[in-house]
Amino acid sequence: MSSSGLAKLVTAKSPAPTQRFTGLPKYNFVGGHNAPEGIPVLELTAAANSVLQREGHLLALYNLSHGPLGYQPLREFVAGKLAGRGISCTSDDILITSGSTQGLNLVFSLFLEQGSTIVVEEFTYSSVLNRLRNQEVEIIGAPLTEHGIDIVRLEELLEAQHKKGRPVRMVYTIPTIQNPTGTIMPMESRERLVALARQYNFVIFEDECYADLIWAADGVPPSIYSMAPDVTVHIGSFSKTLGPALRVGYAIAEWSILSRIVALKNDAGSGAIDQMVVAEYFSHHFSNHLVRLTGILDEKLKVMSEAIDAAFGSGVSYHVPPGGIFLWLKFPDYIDVRKLTAPALAAGVAFNPGPEWSANGEAARSWMRLCFALPSKEIIAEGIRKLSEICYAEIGFPEISGNRVRSQSRLPESKMNGDDITAR
Ligand SMILES: Cc1ncc(COP(=O)(O)O)c(C=O)c1O
Repeated sequence: MSSSGLAKLVTAKSPAPTQRFTGLPKYNFVGGHNAPEGIPVLELTAAANSVLQREGHLLALYNLSHGPLGYQPLREFVAGKLAGRGISCTSDDILITSGSTQGLNLVFSLFLEQGSTIVVEEFTYSSVLNRLRNQEVEIIGAPLTEHGIDIVRLEELLEAQHKKGRPVRMVYTIPTIQNPTGTIMPMESRERLVALARQYNFVIFEDECYADLIWAADGVPPSIYSMAPDVTVHIGSFSKTLGPALRVGYAIAEWSILSRIVALKNDAGSGAIDQMVVAEYFSHHFSNHLVRLTGILDEKLKVMSEAIDAAFGSGVSYHVPPGGIFLWLKFPDYIDVRKLTAPALAAGVAFNPGPEWSANGEAARSWMRLCFALPSKEIIAEGIRKLSEICYAEIGFPEISGNRVRSQSRLPESKMNGDDITAR
């Protein structure tokens, strides 16, 4: 049978096929990659050497003989790290996962079924939106402010759903360095969210992927899980804290829930060497590593924001995130950033268009997400300059760049009238 014949046999629910990988663009602002210069190669080599010499023989056993929760020293390290987020737990409360992506999949599978209702932040992690759409659940976007989820609006929509007889089963939130907006939810909102979870009987799903990467905020509130383990499931990751090619994340929940998540995780264990190396390295170098990495990210963010200010001036706006790896950039309402995707890519510049990060796609048409972690400072500056040139060539915006009015305005009439030029 030909391969196209086989393709006819796949189930109707299988996802659309993936495009072949053709390499990464030169000016790569997409995805959640980390800073290559922040990878402590020598220290990781030493950690790998010592842990393998000491315990490598355990690779002969599923789960290294440490049981389905994962490598014990890593769970102990995570328990200690989570104490810094206010969480009081032991290694037996923690499940190591293959990246937090696996945690997301397991927790969504456990709590949601076709037709369930979930609230997410109106702008949120695109893979979560895709996963939830595949699961055919009802997704409601809760408005965001510069302080994370708008708790008053959230309460209104919880009440409206309750009255409609379609109660919300889960609120998925990234409260500490939100993806993509970079906001931190303050303590009062966290307390109110917990009270609402108890009142309306939903699970809070807290994703703290970026909580280790904060350099410009004082008094970051404790994790929601620490305040209400009875209504919260918490996940985290080493992808942003160390590197996403290491597939190591974790989930924490009370045993009545964690035991069910473990039962769903039927993969015979997450990669053992990844777990061993992360545990060995971070048990000795966690705080030094974070000081170094956040210093690198802070500098790159400065370069990116200076480049944006120089290239786009006041025509665009953004909130400077206090940590993380993303800048969420707002263009004037009349610009649909998707118009720029193909021409920018042709020039080697890749960005994430806002609609992919939005529960209500169209609402984010004039936003884009830029990751500043991966490219070098030179590439960031050059890439942003190129992006503004492409934007001007395609849309006639920005008219002023680097304090200079561009020689010949290409602005269509309609922009002057405030019309939507992208509707043409
Ligand atoms: C909010 C959020 N959660 C989870 C993930 C998944 O990360 P990983 O599976 O690499 O741990 C990401 C990756 O970008 C993310 O941004």
